[in-house]
Amino acid sequence: MKVSISTESLQKLSTPALIFLVPEGALDDLPPEIRALLPKAALVSFRAKLSETLVVYPSRGSIERLVLVGLGDGKGSLAKLELFRRAVGTVARGLVKQGVTDLALYLGGLLGPDYVREAAVVAMLAPYRFSRHQKKKEDADKDIRSLVLVAPGEQSVQSLKAELTRAAILADAVRIARDLVNAPSNELTPTKLAEAAQQAAKGVNGLSATILGRSALIKGKFGALLAVARGSHEEPQLITLEYQPESKVNGQRSKVPTIVLVGKGVTFDTGGINLKPSQAMGDMHMDMAGGAAVIAAVRAAALLKLPLRVIGIVPATENMPSGTALKPGDILTSRSGQTIEVLDTDAEGRLILADGLDYAGEFQPDLIVDLATLTGAALVALGEDRAAIIGNDQEAIEAVRVAGDVTGELVWPLPLDDDYRAHVKSDVADVKNLGKGRQAGVISGAAFLEKFVPKDTPWVHIDLAGPALRSEPGPYWPKGGSGWGVRLLVEFLRSQTH
Ligand code: BES
Ligand code: MN
Ligand code: ZN
Repeated sequence: MKVSISTESLQKLSTPALIFLVPEGALDDLPPEIRALLPKAALVSFRAKLSETLVVYPSRGSIERLVLVGLGDGKGSLAKLELFRRAVGTVARGLVKQGVTDLALYLGGLLGPDYVREAAVVAMLAPYRFSRHQKKKEDADKDIRSLVLVAPGEQSVQSLKAELTRAAILADAVRIARDLVNAPSNELTPTKLAEAAQQAAKGVNGLSATILGRSALIKGKFGALLAVARGSHEEPQLITLEYQPESKVNGQRSKVPTIVLVGKGVTFDTGGINLKPSQAMGDMHMDMAGGAAVIAAVRAAALLKLPLRVIGIVPATENMPSGTALKPGDILTSRSGQTIEVLDTDAEGRLILADGLDYAGEFQPDLIVDLATLTGAALVALGEDRAAIIGNDQEAIEAVRVAGDVTGELVWPLPLDDDYRAHVKSDVADVKNLGKGRQAGVISGAAFLEKFVPKDTPWVHIDLAGPALRSEPGPYWPKGGSGWGVRLLVEFLRSQTH
């Protein structure tokens, strides 16, 4: 898709569709150049309520359609930028469905780098579909071909153009994550996920991928990851992406913070011997959504040349029942040396993350963020519209929360204290992988993970079991894999650079 900025007046614009966003109540002071395109009677019933649209076909000039979209009165809970994203996404997808794939968006009054960037991001994301396996494409292949951002008289086009480059990097990264989450488990095995990570690193300056297979994992004593993998014929993989910025000050490599992102990479979760009931199983190819977000975000961070060292760690495996599988009651020794009593083989995510978090220590991180579709309890508590966050550092938790507010990927904090830490105390091992029955499932998951976080390291855990997979399409996300977390992670990383 081609995105450009035009500073010409509307008289000179030629487009199949010009989109104009109107806040409710602003109908009386439309820019004269827009008003000139509207027949007198056009606005009789249009109120500019949120997502209300009105299409007019101007009789003169070379704008074939003028599409007015309401932004509502802005009094709801959604941030202004999110309202903008949703409005742009809704019309963009609507127009593409009708076969209109060359769009123009009027930005007068809404200018600013954020709006320019987000318009482009959303236009690239809204038409996404996972259609790779469909022979008959229907509207599957339709994408936006071009988007012109119309900003009449705008002076600082050069700086806005940089936002378009950023937008393309972000949207590409989200698409990568969506494709990985949507891929079925017979296609996306741990090995294939590792190949995808290598592909994501290929040709990107400063970014490299390292993959450890079974024998290296045995050598490295990744006891918890290996235990989960034992039930599967698929070889487990430990994926590491490492981005080292080139930033040099006076020829010296400047000291930049190291942030490690750890993502759960279970390419299919049957529950293992504690087999899931059948309705709960079909979606479990999505159980690597945290890992996908991490891979995509590290790639984006490298392409954006963020002045940070960013490491992505994704332990990847299937969780299968078999004659060789991990069994309830088994006691494992994790990479950290701590022993784990496995009371439920379906609580496998925290097992593989235990080794992933411990391994993160090798990189001497200043901060760790982990992303995992860890508990059904997160989905029950917050639904698909928010992920749960828990951590050991208020400042870092707050920074993640703010980043989510900026990108529209909302998170909500839950507590972690000694009373909850007691939920994962084991009678026979150093820790157990199950909390107190149905109590505080998200928190006991985090309490378990905390035991494996390298000493004195700020850490934030994001449980994205809700938003990772959408049961219905939204304004700029499809049904299925949402790519949730990619933009949040990149925004969070950016926020740590100043
Ligand atoms: N992958 C699941 C969590 C999940 C559930 C993600 C629904 C997305 C949608 C995880 O491995 C799991 O099975 N968790 C268990 C933990 C329990 C056994 C402590 C759960 O939530 O039931
Ligand atoms: Mn599970
Ligand atoms: Zn799982």
